[in-house]
Amino acid sequence: MTLNLTRRLMLTGAMGTSIAGASACVSSVGSTTQAAAEGAFPPAPAIDPYLLGPKEGVALLSRNENPYGPAKSARDMIEYAASKGAYYTSFEAQVMLTEMIAEKNNVSPEQVVVTTGSGEVLSAIALIYGPKGPIVAPRLFWDTTALYAVNLRMANIERVPLAADMSVDLSTIEAKVTPETGLVQLCNPNNPTGMVSDAATLKAAVKRMASKTTVLVDEAYIELSDDPEGNSCVPLINAGHDVIVTRTFSKIYGMAGVRVGYSISSAETAEKIRATAMSWSPSLSIAAAIGCYNDEKFLAMSRSKIQEARDMVNTTIDTLGLTRLPSQTNFVYFKSGKEANAVQEAMMKKKISVRGQYMDYNEWTRVSMGTIADVERFCKALPEVLGA
Ligand SMILES: Cc1ncc(COP(=O)(O)O)c(C=O)c1O
Repeated sequence: MTLNLTRRLMLTGAMGTSIAGASACVSSVGSTTQAAAEGAFPPAPAIDPYLLGPKEGVALLSRNENPYGPAKSARDMIEYAASKGAYYTSFEAQVMLTEMIAEKNNVSPEQVVVTTGSGEVLSAIALIYGPKGPIVAPRLFWDTTALYAVNLRMANIERVPLAADMSVDLSTIEAKVTPETGLVQLCNPNNPTGMVSDAATLKAAVKRMASKTTVLVDEAYIELSDDPEGNSCVPLINAGHDVIVTRTFSKIYGMAGVRVGYSISSAETAEKIRATAMSWSPSLSIAAAIGCYNDEKFLAMSRSKIQEARDMVNTTIDTLGLTRLPSQTNFVYFKSGKEANAVQEAMMKKKISVRGQYMDYNEWTRVSMGTIADVERFCKALPEVLGA
């Protein structure tokens, strides 16, 4: 796999190989006649335009990415950072991003930990709190990082079924929490349901639970919710509650491949997280995040495109008389009435990628908001795939 990738990159010159160098590789693997026909300096093969994004013609609506990013403000910084790529990420650049995040969230820089995607900080948190006791969480949530600690035998997840309306059942979760609980992990808005918990109910429950153990609220999609400030649990941190909030540049900022995320917590907790996080964020990623963090124009555009796509998907689902959950994110979870994996397969035949089955939710499909053109394809395909 790695070998193939390396070879392919060399052949396409994508690793910065000079044209002459790339041609040498091509000539050495071709036949003598082919080499002669191509001449000594044949043009370097073009870089596969689909190498790092969706394959040709595929509407990639399965991974909650945001195709409107990265913002120009981020791309300009990536270009600048690439020219300085010989040097390790500067401490000053990391401090600058940390200070920007701190300022926007009314916390001190000591309370912010920037990592390589929020996946990294979430994994670090699972490793810190998992060994203390169970991670209490909704049955259905973005469990990848908790499972990372489970797979290392450093944590167990105690899953609490969703309420009848598929919202997070906060009162049942709260009833499970004791001082022996390692961590409460919530995701607001939740993934894959896309639902936001009622802000007042959530905050009251989080405060009570945080008096017993640490509460983590993963706010990866919070900027896409109807009231990002009102829904966020960040204010609970400065009020002295044992709460950690994580955020990401992968969603509203459209930088899933660039890999920047962060946590906000007390300074003391941040110190523990910093000591556990494993990677050193690339300078290109830090630069990109600095470039776009306060790019309000881009953020408004991103939000409005996602909402436009979501309205189209909602209308299609409603017209078909299907049940869907009220999403405040860039994805919609709906009950198609057909096996989720069969829906996925049928969509894939039309080059549309949607999520397959989660746990035993066998008739539920999650579709992410892509470009308007890709979402249009999904809306047209859905009745065909469902035979409606
Ligand atoms: C709820 C939630 N949290 C965190 C992540 C991880 O995002 P990243 O590591 O790209 O910041 C995802 C990814 O889809 C997610 O859905």
